[in-house]
Amino acid sequence: MKVDGKHFRSIWRERDGWSVGAIDQRRLPHEFVIARLTSCEDAAVAIRDMLVRGAPLIGATAAYGMALAMREDSSDAGLKRAYDALVVARPTAINLKWALHEMRTALAPIDPVERAEAAYARADEIVEQDVEINRGIAGNGLELIEAIAAKKPGEVVNVLTHCNAGWLATVDWGTATAPIYLAHERGIKVHVWVDETRPRNQGASLTAWELGHHGVPHTVIPDNTGGHLMQHGMVDLAIVGTDRVAANGDVCNKIGTYLKALAAHDNGVPFYVALPSPTIDFAVHDGIRDIPIEQRSGVEVTDMTGRTADGRLETVRIVPEGSPVANYAFDVTPARLVTGLITERGVLKPDRAALAAAFPERIATA
Ligand code: MRU
Repeated sequence: MKVDGKHFRSIWRERDGWSVGAIDQRRLPHEFVIARLTSCEDAAVAIRDMLVRGAPLIGATAAYGMALAMREDSSDAGLKRAYDALVVARPTAINLKWALHEMRTALAPIDPVERAEAAYARADEIVEQDVEINRGIAGNGLELIEAIAAKKPGEVVNVLTHCNAGWLATVDWGTATAPIYLAHERGIKVHVWVDETRPRNQGASLTAWELGHHGVPHTVIPDNTGGHLMQHGMVDLAIVGTDRVAANGDVCNKIGTYLKALAAHDNGVPFYVALPSPTIDFAVHDGIRDIPIEQRSGVEVTDMTGRTADGRLETVRIVPEGSPVANYAFDVTPARLVTGLITERGVLKPDRAALAAAFPERIATA
């Protein structure tokens, strides 16, 4: 998507053909900084420290991490070491495991001398596939927005989203934002309520930044505002992303998603989840019980960083010294609160039968 008129993806192969460029998302919206990843270790740290984040981008970064590892050591032991180092970088987004599984399946059977080239080729495919999938999500989600627009001619369609499931969280287009970008391009009047998404503020820092650069009307709201807006008819639909969808349709996403789904249910607001098929985990049958929820450092809760009026970045503490904090990064929304799953193969009911019918090939690899 565009940044100051120039097309960017969130991750790419650099001109040298082997190192990997990525936007350092920790610095947005204050600074646009490009990082260069030159080793498997760089890729693992980028995922762990959230220089890159968002489930599909975590997967894409891991794929390139494997390719970088194969330059260093393409032996069987090197392959295993790279897999083991990357797979633990973050626990919740299943795209990480999916991408590493894809890479290992492609590389294990071939001669180690051919592995580095094959690894880059497979990683490139994973990256291109992500863009294609998101185009599919865009088209399928657009139909939902068009249906609402048709019911209120000339009026704005208000979409609420949580966290950042935009192009920064994928390779391009985003998942939750893909239908929004397409609707905007097609001339449909859309406006997005952007949850700030404490504690890391991916909504305020990243989604607002993206939408602003693309000219999509939006308003950043404190996380607790959605229920009020829904009660007053100010939200037509919610679209969020996800880090893992269980076989039963339960949806794991950024902490606070569940509360939005409850509010949407109580107010009859359609609540959609946009996802690429690599986010489905057929090995997990009960999302609430079995999806591992990442707990991150308490510093993310106690401290906030922002830009001062004179342009300096400053971090301040907002919690009293000594008060314990908890930082659960994700929660699980039960399938019964989800209106539909927007996938590249259509809008599905959030249940096992619908997911299995649409993506039978994913069951075999679970
Ligand atoms: O902790 P993050 O920023 O990686 O969490 C991101 C999300 O929760 C996104 O909604 C999810 O990964 C979907 S991205 C298309």
